Amino acid sequence: MDRRRRPARLLAGVALAALGGLALAADTRPPLRAMSWIPHDADLVRVFATQPTECLTVPTDPAAARSIEIGRAAFRTPVLLGGQAARAGLSCESCHRSGRGNPDFQFPGASGAPGTADVTLSLFSSRRGNGVHDPKPIPDLSGPRDRLKVASAGLPDFIHGLIVEEFDGHAPPPAVLAGLADYVRALSPAACPKAAREPTTPRQLLDDARRALTAAEAVAHDDRPTAVLMIAAARARLFLIDERYAAQPRQIARLRAADADLAALQTQVRDGRPDAARGLARWRAASADLEAALGAGRGASLFDPRALRRATNRRLPPKTS
Ligand code: HEC
Repeated sequence: MDRRRRPARLLAGVALAALGGLALAADTRPPLRAMSWIPHDADLVRVFATQPTECLTVPTDPAAARSIEIGRAAFRTPVLLGGQAARAGLSCESCHRSGRGNPDFQFPGASGAPGTADVTLSLFSSRRGNGVHDPKPIPDLSGPRDRLKVASAGLPDFIHGLIVEEFDGHAPPPAVLAGLADYVRALSPAACPKAAREPTTPRQLLDDARRALTAAEAVAHDDRPTAVLMIAAARARLFLIDERYAAQPRQIARLRAADADLAALQTQVRDGRPDAARGLARWRAASADLEAALGAGRGASLFDPRALRRATNRRLPPKTS
């Protein structure tokens, strides 16, 4: 395992994967990357046109809120996890969807029954792999605290171990580790909306990206590594929109341009350029136009349940078992 991986290289890989998805549209890969880790008989429309609602309380205290927002974005960022998991596109959220569990998670070689995962698997980790296939149910992190195994105070150590040992990631910046623990602590059954699921929309993914960039702006001067990761979080959200518009060149061109702007801003933040935070704010403001363009093409995109059904009937290989 190459332990000198650089995030920039990984991000380039993500961008290339996105381009590859377009160029190889005729191959048998599923149209959405996350379709590689669901059971063959899953209801694709339920799993991909909707998602669980998030049970999150964001406090009014600005510093506490900022920490939770940093954690929320990191939770959704594949580059946070290293090695195979990051390359496959897995983030914390792949298993803990919207901070809950994921009854539809079945990663080839890493799961037993749907909804389980083996997080001590050599596939993901060169350090902690125990050579034993022992998948465990993925816990709902929004569940009652007393039903969770890890005490609130133990969360930073537990999450550090997860990232560095189970997933081979780099030790995250301190603010990101603290943020992840604060995010998990801010999830609770009391905060669950009435509806258990909601439609997955381009606006929601863009909102996630904008929230990540707001967090990036706040720390762009004082904590560049965290800001760089927050911009990676926003770009990962754009990737998830991109793959659903693969057949629409106009929207794809806008998305790629918006992503290229974020890549440039990421470099500016990394280099400590003083105007980087203003650039991030400008990107957020301009994203309203992007959102309108995406909205106009939504009916033909894989956000639309009918389009999703058509695309998946045609392309998913037949059930083998
Ligand atoms: C491949 C799927 C997978 C990924 C990715 C994943 N988890 Fe988990 N997580 C699990 C499973 C399975 C368990 C239960 C492990 C056990 O019971 O031993 C778990 C347990 C936990 C727990 C303990 C819950 C308790 O009972 O107290 C926390 C907290 C947690 N994960 C947070 C995270 C965070 C943060 C990330 C990202 C850094 C992450 N997980 C990524 C599958 C995953």
